[in-house]
Amino acid sequence: MERLRIEGGRRLEGTVAIHGAKNSALPLLAATLLCKDECALHNCPRLSDVDVAMRILEHLGCRATRQDGTVTVRAEAVSHHDVPEGLMREMRSSIVFLGAILARCGEAALSFPGGCELGPRPIDLHLSSLRRMGALIREEFGVLRCRVPKGLHGAAITLPFPSVGATENVLIAAATAKGTTVLRNAAREPEICDLCAFLTRCGARIHGAGESTVTVEGVEALHGCEHRVIPDRIEAATYMAAAAATGGTVVLKNVETEHLMPVLPAFEEAGCRLTLWGDSLLVSAPPRLHRVRTVRTMPYPGFPTDAAAPLLAMCCVAEGTGVFVETIFESRYKYAGELRRMGACIKVEDRVAVVEGRPTLFGTGVACTDLRGGAALAVAALAAEGVTVIGELHHLDRGYEDMERTLTALGGTVKRTEAEHGTADTDQSEEETACQPLYDGVHPIRYGRGTDPGERAGGRGSEGKRQASDE
Ligand code: EPZ
Repeated sequence: MERLRIEGGRRLEGTVAIHGAKNSALPLLAATLLCKDECALHNCPRLSDVDVAMRILEHLGCRATRQDGTVTVRAEAVSHHDVPEGLMREMRSSIVFLGAILARCGEAALSFPGGCELGPRPIDLHLSSLRRMGALIREEFGVLRCRVPKGLHGAAITLPFPSVGATENVLIAAATAKGTTVLRNAAREPEICDLCAFLTRCGARIHGAGESTVTVEGVEALHGCEHRVIPDRIEAATYMAAAAATGGTVVLKNVETEHLMPVLPAFEEAGCRLTLWGDSLLVSAPPRLHRVRTVRTMPYPGFPTDAAAPLLAMCCVAEGTGVFVETIFESRYKYAGELRRMGACIKVEDRVAVVEGRPTLFGTGVACTDLRGGAALAVAALAAEGVTVIGELHHLDRGYEDMERTLTALGGTVKRTEAEHGTADTDQSEEETACQPLYDGVHPIRYGRGTDPGERAGGRGSEGKRQASDE
């Protein structure tokens, strides 16, 4: 099992080139299924999730190959309409193949998708939307069996919540459906616009990309194209947080500055100097960050839920107290317990996390709980005193290409190591770890309507009750 060993306390300095966006590349790969001739996706990140998407395409009968940053897909001979359970479980995004397989094959058999454990992640909106487009869907022993006896047809669909995945499924399915689809309350994330740009390049007729109401006039067939995946705004926000947490100065290249607008005010509030030019962004942090008062995650153009974890880690070493409110997922703070092991002072109550900045954190052994939680641990480790060893790296590898190389190029001391069989997931002795300052549970933060988080959780002073309320 691999681990990331980070020696903290070094200012990050230098230039980092941001990779293509994972959350764009995955639906784009699913959409290539609709094109009978070759599609080339440039700037496609090297990530385990992208590998899974390529394996799904190959299972379906396509040829999916990579040369450097370009993934080429040939989908002229689709031979299967199912996705094996093992591949479905590896990532949440596998559900975006549903619309594509149905549109291409007229039937599909998929089990329920896996992905990060962020609380319940139903797919009811995907299914109800596709049903409105003519799909007959039933569940049989954990497998979704779907077919469209008369082919997919256009429909008027209103999403009760602007789900990113459901919007992607509808757009892909509608591209070659009979008639016009009008999707209301669609997600407006940049990754949705990228999907619309790709489909349009392949011959789809889409109006209103990036707006709440999107209209798709179905066409007979799509052709292949070349497309460049947009830069990963979450990877960019993560390296911004890493630079800021170490008091560093970093230039991010290959960013789409417009997509970063929702996160920039938080960095400015923390006292960072930001300079934007072309596709570059300079982040220059003060020696000690100021507090970021409130971060509330929202669908785009609000603050992205995926960027909240690295930012929260950054706030662990800021001066003062910040409040994070998660409105998208039910359970996004699993990593807070790991940050506490490093000396962070974080109180979690349902979807709210209160972070009291400390002058420093301390290195220890921790484990990624999910993709963005893992990114938060890396940010904290860079700012911490001493050595942090991060385990369960498969989470991080789903969304960050070559993180250790990037951080090393910025002056961090970061190594990927193989854990020896039978050794603990830390380089430190138990005694050293036990010496780390733990959350004392008696800080006077008040929030909401004056309710103390400790009191709400069943009283202060009882370690057991405190633990139970924290997650
Ligand atoms: C996408 O997930 C991203 N994943 C997530 O990134 C991101 O956090 C999320 O959008 C929000 O921005 C990919 O693009 C691969 P949703 P998705 O459907 O599509 C509820 C990362 O770290 N919902 O917008 O799954 C759902 O439970 C990942 O890179 C339903 O209730 O997000 C959640 O509370 C994690 N029923 C909310 O909507 C449904 O049918 C948002 O989900 C669908 C969703």
